Amino acid sequence: MAGNKPVVWVSRPTFDSEIARLRPHFEVREETREAKFAPAELAAKLAGCDAAIVGLKERVDAAAVAGATRLRIVANLAVGYDNLDLAALVAAGIAASNTADVLNESVADYAWALLLGAARRMGAAERWLRAGQWHATEFKEWLGADVRGHVLGILGMGRIGQAIARRAQGFGMPVLYHNRSRLPADVERECRARYVDKAELLRESDFLVLVLPLTPETRHAVGAAELAQMKPTAVLVNVARGGIVDDAALAAALREGRLAAAGLDVFEGEPRVHPDLLALDNVLLSPHIASATTDTRRAMTAVAVDNVLALFGHGPHAGHPPNLLNPEALAVVARAPFPTREEPTR
Ligand code: DGY
Repeated sequence: MAGNKPVVWVSRPTFDSEIARLRPHFEVREETREAKFAPAELAAKLAGCDAAIVGLKERVDAAAVAGATRLRIVANLAVGYDNLDLAALVAAGIAASNTADVLNESVADYAWALLLGAARRMGAAERWLRAGQWHATEFKEWLGADVRGHVLGILGMGRIGQAIARRAQGFGMPVLYHNRSRLPADVERECRARYVDKAELLRESDFLVLVLPLTPETRHAVGAAELAQMKPTAVLVNVARGGIVDDAALAAALREGRLAAAGLDVFEGEPRVHPDLLALDNVLLSPHIASATTDTRRAMTAVAVDNVLALFGHGPHAGHPPNLLNPEALAVVARAPFPTREEPTR
């Protein structure tokens, strides 16, 4: 607490219009530039606040919250939350939230942008043009792949996967999907998507889009063995998380012509990108920006703010953060004096 107000730490510059809604209730400590915090720095930031709005760069684990005795909520500025150790947060009685739903359509659009861009070799063509190599274009130069009538495969059929599938109707593409659990029949009908096992998905897809969360089970879900099952003409798109694909194995497949192309927004160990991928022309690369539209990034900020407000009993969701990832944490919080776990302050 600072004065009478609890403190919110915001780990990166976001949208002032949304952060302003915190100010009547909190002292807001907002970082004014992007930074990568060392573990000790992050632990110190978290130890000094009652709520934190963090991004994917912040790995919030048991060590990060060990001294954060006042911290009651970590609101992640992302739908994916592999940067949060939910078990550690539950144990510490700290709620966690994400930004589910508000980014579905933007990420689906971007998956299609990468898919089409990789299929039509847009990255390499632009580099060639900018390098001043366009003196004449040969009729058989820059040939890419059509999407119409070809099979779209989706691995991970949550709400983003479904939004990607719905767009396939406009491109006249049959859709196959694989997911931990099969979707209800009405959702399958609406998405015009057919459930198949993973082996069939890999074998049959002309375009395979990955939209699954990164967990210990999904790490390298697409590695050398999976790539070997795909068509050599196939295009792989990853808008999910680095680490789901084995980037070294992917680079080898692309280099050796065992896969036609890839469109990648996420990388193992990003912001580092595997040098073998950087050396290839048949891969379209972008810096983890699938959700990066003005409206969506503002909406993500709004959701994080709503969750913080709600946990502290403010706003339309007072008492019920709408995007809670670990409701068990609230039971721990409820046993502790409000609003800090350490000391009653009012
Ligand atoms: C998410 O929300 O998980 C995205 O990857 C971040 O843009």
